[in-house]
Amino acid sequence: MSESKRLRIAVQKKGRLSDESIGLLKAIGIKLQIRDRLLIAHSTNQPIDLLLVRDDDIPGLVMDGVVDLGFIGENELEEKMLERQQSGKAHDFKTLRRLDYGGCQLSIAVPTEFEYKGLESINGLKVATTYPFLLERFFKKNNINAQAVMLTGSVEVAPRAGVADAICDLVSTGATLEANGLREEAVIFKSKAVLIQRGEALSDEKQALINRLLPRVDGVMQAKE
Ligand code: PRP
Ligand code: ZN
Ligand code: MG
Repeated sequence: MSESKRLRIAVQKKGRLSDESIGLLKAIGIKLQIRDRLLIAHSTNQPIDLLLVRDDDIPGLVMDGVVDLGFIGENELEEKMLERQQSGKAHDFKTLRRLDYGGCQLSIAVPTEFEYKGLESINGLKVATTYPFLLERFFKKNNINAQAVMLTGSVEVAPRAGVADAICDLVSTGATLEANGLREEAVIFKSKAVLIQRGEALSDEKQALINRLLPRVDGVMQAKE
């Protein structure tokens, strides 16, 4: 694949980071026409293309150098970094900015009737999660002997379904936990959205464009304070 002269930015198509990431790009003066079913959107006033994808794919796209920049939650980024590190795949990237949205935490939660007496209560449990690498790292660091059960979705129903004893999932408002009879007990990772760039150097033109855009990002964030 020949390298595009246009700067490629990966953004979550639909989810907790989409609106604010796209809103930020518009706020820094990038004109975008986003059509619903399309994976790619071309800016009409800048040499920039947006790739609208699943958030889970964004760290890999940046680390493989398929896109130049990506907006992603630190939770997803750190999980994919650990996964790729352990399987010997490229995992380089640069964090350009930590952003002021997308705040959430990855937490261990137990059924409300469970008698939780501290981290040692997790020993021997099966914990359902979409973030097995972050969870295993937490277990190791805290000398917990428990089992991570990987689920790509519907993690919050795992205890009731008898698939796991507890869960480790993202919590923002807490509504999902509440609706599923679960109680947050241990925060294992705090996350915000970040803007990342691929590790490998870009052309001078692309880097110059990024360097012109970043002060505008800072300006938009300051204006919101
Ligand atoms: C996360 C998580 C919960 C929900 C928690 O999912 O898996 O379902 O958010 O948020 P709350 O505390 O405000 O209820 P997300 O929206 O990121 O979607 P996904 O599970 O499809 O990735
Ligand atoms: Zn996701
Ligand atoms: Mg969810």
